[in-house]
Amino acid sequence: MKINADIQYAGVADKDLDLFENQYPLPNGMLYNSYVIIDEKTVILDTVDKRAVDEWLKNVKTILGDKKPDYLVIHHLEPDHSAGILRLHEEYPEMKLVGNMQTFRLLPQFFDADLSPLYEQVDEGTELSLGEHTLKFFKAPMVHWPEVMVSFEEKTGVLFAADAFGKFGIEEDTDDWACEARRYYFNIVGKYGMQVQALLKKLPLDEVKTICPLHGPVLTEDLGYFAGLYDTWSKYEPEDKGIFIACASIHGNTWKAAEYLKNEIEALGKDKVVLTDLCRADVAEAVEDAFRYDRMILMSSSYDAGLFPPMESFLHHLAAKQYCKRKVALVQNGTWAPSAAKTMQAILAPLKDLTYVGDVITIKTTMSDANKEELKELAEKMI
Ligand SMILES: Cc1cc2nc3c(=O)[nH]c(=O)nc-3n(C[C@H](O)[C@H](O)[C@H](O)COP(=O)(O)O)c2cc1C
Ligand SMILES: [Fe+2]
Ligand SMILES: [Fe+2]
Repeated sequence: MKINADIQYAGVADKDLDLFENQYPLPNGMLYNSYVIIDEKTVILDTVDKRAVDEWLKNVKTILGDKKPDYLVIHHLEPDHSAGILRLHEEYPEMKLVGNMQTFRLLPQFFDADLSPLYEQVDEGTELSLGEHTLKFFKAPMVHWPEVMVSFEEKTGVLFAADAFGKFGIEEDTDDWACEARRYYFNIVGKYGMQVQALLKKLPLDEVKTICPLHGPVLTEDLGYFAGLYDTWSKYEPEDKGIFIACASIHGNTWKAAEYLKNEIEALGKDKVVLTDLCRADVAEAVEDAFRYDRMILMSSSYDAGLFPPMESFLHHLAAKQYCKRKVALVQNGTWAPSAAKTMQAILAPLKDLTYVGDVITIKTTMSDANKEELKELAEKMI
């Protein structure tokens, strides 16, 4: 696949992988992207996951023909992008490795080989001239890992964006890009919104005509839309108005209350409500929805003087990703000494700019008439 006259796609679609990073379900596989620029100097940009190295190397060789690559650019060292480095080096022992100081500090941990004579170190703003094309490097520390950098090809306006602007799934079209890009963003990069903001601010976005990420489709149109979403997400601003109800219920009584509350809010006719069963949902999907909407209601059973583990796990995920700037309400259920709210509050306490709506509502096993009134009142307060 050609990106333009001189830049080609060498990546691989992994259709069978079930869990990305051994934790995120992949209903539709994963792309490991890699690119080749043919100019006076020939460059390969990133390698792929070990599951895909053979196929990738074939792609690279088909594109290169008799040419030998002068450089391999390492935008990101994580194994889903670096597993082919040694194989490529063995094929082309003279090829230089382009990375920054952090790249070369970490690289020896990944391979039992001394590649240091091949290091070509770049820094913020370094330009690598390839002939007609020039790659300019921008450091993007913690836009997933500390060594991450992106590069901008000045002649054709192509941004090689590393893990930024990536998504789960192998679809090449961008029709429903935001759905899996959002789950990817908040779970993979979410903790580092400030670093994403810093990167967005220093990139020449006005000059970018194509975004080539390391996962997901190449983006060629509506770049303002994609950049706008990244701006919203990395500022931790809600993307949509709506109420996300996250429920963890052992025996179904709390779930019944959640459905009741959802109906009450919907009856007021103002807000979209999304109700998720944390015992069954992909927790990454729940994290995505928590960030997507501006309000969240947590409803959980008590458990061993603490919190039912599916809710506890969800909240730890949210806290790890710096959930903030949202309105939150708490509903707990317990039969003898309800303890869910106390644990929820303890996990949420360090998070910034959370506004609590109403008092904690406590259900004792089954929803009472008084509980119904409280939930009705909560519905009114939430909208
Ligand atoms: C393993 C286990 C531990 C529980 N621990 C507590 C507890 O510490 N305090 C309490 O009030 N209820 C406790 N319960 C009772 C549940 O919290 C109660 O049945 C539940 O909140 C009812 O709502 P549900 O049907 O949505 O699960 C426990 C129940 C189980 C199964
Ligand atoms: Fe990564
Ligand atoms: Fe990645």
